[in-house]
Amino acid sequence: MRRATITGWGKCTPPAVLSNEDLEAVIETSDEWITTRTGIKERRVTHTETSDMAAVAGRHAIAAAGLQPADIDLLILATCTPDRIIPSAASMVQPKVGAVNAACLDINAACSGFVYGLSVANGMIAVGAAKKVLLIGAEKLSSLLDIEDRGTAVLFGDGAGAVVIEPATDGAGVLALNLGTDGELAGILTVSGFGTEALGDTTSQYSLMMDGPEVFRNAVTQMGDAAARAVADAGLSLDDVDLLIPHQANTRIIDATARRMKLPPEKVFVNITGYGNTSAASIPIALTEALESDLVRPGAVIVFVAFGGGLTWGAACMRFGERVTPLGTSDARLTPTTSTGLELLMERQAERRRRRGMA
Ligand code: ACO
Repeated sequence: MRRATITGWGKCTPPAVLSNEDLEAVIETSDEWITTRTGIKERRVTHTETSDMAAVAGRHAIAAAGLQPADIDLLILATCTPDRIIPSAASMVQPKVGAVNAACLDINAACSGFVYGLSVANGMIAVGAAKKVLLIGAEKLSSLLDIEDRGTAVLFGDGAGAVVIEPATDGAGVLALNLGTDGELAGILTVSGFGTEALGDTTSQYSLMMDGPEVFRNAVTQMGDAAARAVADAGLSLDDVDLLIPHQANTRIIDATARRMKLPPEKVFVNITGYGNTSAASIPIALTEALESDLVRPGAVIVFVAFGGGLTWGAACMRFGERVTPLGTSDARLTPTTSTGLELLMERQAERRRRRGMA
């Protein structure tokens, strides 16, 4: 069986910024509350659809791998905010990327989507069913936020990150993976009012609802345990880990995970300050920024770990390849916008109020 490794990476962070101060102007919150409780200072709000961000990140990853879009034979999109229910968001991305030879599928494991997607890509490469996989995490979480719910409105942001995954040739690749789900706890992080159970409900809001403290308790345990298990299953010790790239949900959850793994802060990548929680996009955006900042050395042992709605969790331990610089670049980017993050969010809120019959 062949090991799968990451050969390309890229991101798309939309230009419109929404700061804590912007939120202070429209809801009862404060920069101090958000910063101390979550570590977030600002997030991005997209003026496009999820597939547009996914395609930009995907093009950057393909260029970084030194490939052409037509080389990709499997396109996996991890998202819980697809453009539509049918077709899959991956199908929407395919023509935007030009991956004409790829089979396309979505994975919805909420914030764990990237790690779940990595496991599918790893399995397909291991059995020889795919050779060049484009795995994208992309989310337009601003579409699910009700600004009147301050407990969730301050947490999430939009964005996309992508990796190209190929059979390893240099001893690198995914060493161990584990995934888990507890469907009994589905209700503590959910978007209802959408899908078959909401048919005929023309006023449905499909807002994200979350029992924050309960999610927090579960996240701290599951992320630390899953990450430590992936390292042990790889036959390594925690001292061997060079870099932990956790899902960026909350700095307090990240700190607790690092403490459970006995990792010093310099071995933990954190960029939640600028993006908030971008769900399935957070790990590939973070990996791209870690590489851009020269924080990944050739052959580094990296651990990805995530936790999200489902409840789902998962971790992967991999040895990065010898090449930590891109083979090529792409000029792909989103169409420009003059809207601010706050304007985009308020437009979405006006639509919510209209649907509620409150406009
Ligand atoms: N601004 C100001 N005050 C607020 C805000 C806000 N934005 N939101 C809530 N509060 C208030 C509450 O009303 C409450 O007030 P009260 O004591 O008068 O009732 C107080 O702050 C404390 O509320 P808690 O919910 O208990 O605050 P907590 O310390 O648990 O922090 C948070 C909330 C940040 C959501 C935390 O529970 C958390 O991080 N949970 C993990 C959830 C998470 O990270 N989710 C991301 C999704 S998971 C995934 O990645 C899919």
